[in-house]
Amino acid sequence: MATLTDTYTLTNGVQIPKIGFGTWQVAPGQETYDAVTAALKLGYRHIDTAYAYRNEADVGRAIRDSGLKREDVFVTTKLPAEIKDYDRALDTFNETMAHLDLGYVDLYLIHAPWPWGKRGEDYTEGNLADWRAFEEIYNTGRARAIGISNFAVKDMQAVLDHAQVAPMVNQIHWSIGYTEPEITKFAQDHGMLVEAYSPLGTGRLIGNKDIQAVADHYGVSTAQVAIRYAIQKQVLPLPRSINPDHIKANQDIDGFTINAEDMQTLDALHLR
Ligand SMILES: NC(=O)c1ccc[n+]([C@@H]2O[C@H](COP(=O)([O-])OP(=O)(O)OC[C@H]3O[C@@H](n4cnc5c(N)ncnc54)[C@H](OP(=O)(O)O)[C@@H]3O)[C@@H](O)[C@H]2O)c1
Repeated sequence: MATLTDTYTLTNGVQIPKIGFGTWQVAPGQETYDAVTAALKLGYRHIDTAYAYRNEADVGRAIRDSGLKREDVFVTTKLPAEIKDYDRALDTFNETMAHLDLGYVDLYLIHAPWPWGKRGEDYTEGNLADWRAFEEIYNTGRARAIGISNFAVKDMQAVLDHAQVAPMVNQIHWSIGYTEPEITKFAQDHGMLVEAYSPLGTGRLIGNKDIQAVADHYGVSTAQVAIRYAIQKQVLPLPRSINPDHIKANQDIDGFTINAEDMQTLDALHLR
């Protein structure tokens, strides 16, 4: 089966397509609409957005206009990192539902364990309040799966200690040379699928000479190696592009498998 339509299975049985299409820094309006439309036409069936990206409405419109059945597209969105409060989490989810206008969300994530300006500070109480709201949203069927993003081991543990429904996903910065082994192992050991955001290092991995040397063995690009590498590690990559040629290339990764020696070469890189 092609990677684009192949799925991972979350702990609750929900199937999630193995490559997601990222939309961070894609401008609200026509740019998002066109990028998501191009991705859906090329066969992507998993779109990653967030309230904070201000493009949920354009993602929703592109999906509605695509002619695809709602159940054939997997949509992830996120609660803003600044919201650490039960009532505000529920209210913001309602806003997200109105923006997307798709009837339900497939995966809803807490965007980060701390507001962006307070990275690393302890917001455990707020995260637990958010998680109670997430459990309510999940139990009423408005999100088919719930999870977290940017959570370190201690942040995951705090949620697990109190959760009625355990998080199904942790979406983290994960790319060649930056694979967060402790977070990845802890998440996977506790049943969470790890999603790789910035799988191309927000573009910094493109043309990297060490990755290029591996890519040359297979006649592919550095982007294709970066995406294939994540899949071979059982992680779910979320590449982003507004360039139709790149959108096409980033899903064209079924014609090669990175061999064990090259995987070791990539494992040994330290990049940020
Ligand atoms: N949860 C979080 O906190 C969080 C944080 C960051 C990102 N994310 C998610 O992860 C997604 C991906 O991460 P990202 O946005 O940081 O970027 P990325 O996918 O790592 O890299 C995107 C950059 O690479 C370029 N690119 C893509 N494909 C290419 C190709 N085949 N050849 C050459 N250049 C290529 C893009 O430019 P072109 O558009 O010109 O192709 C863009 O500049 C986000 O969009 C978002 O959905 C989540």
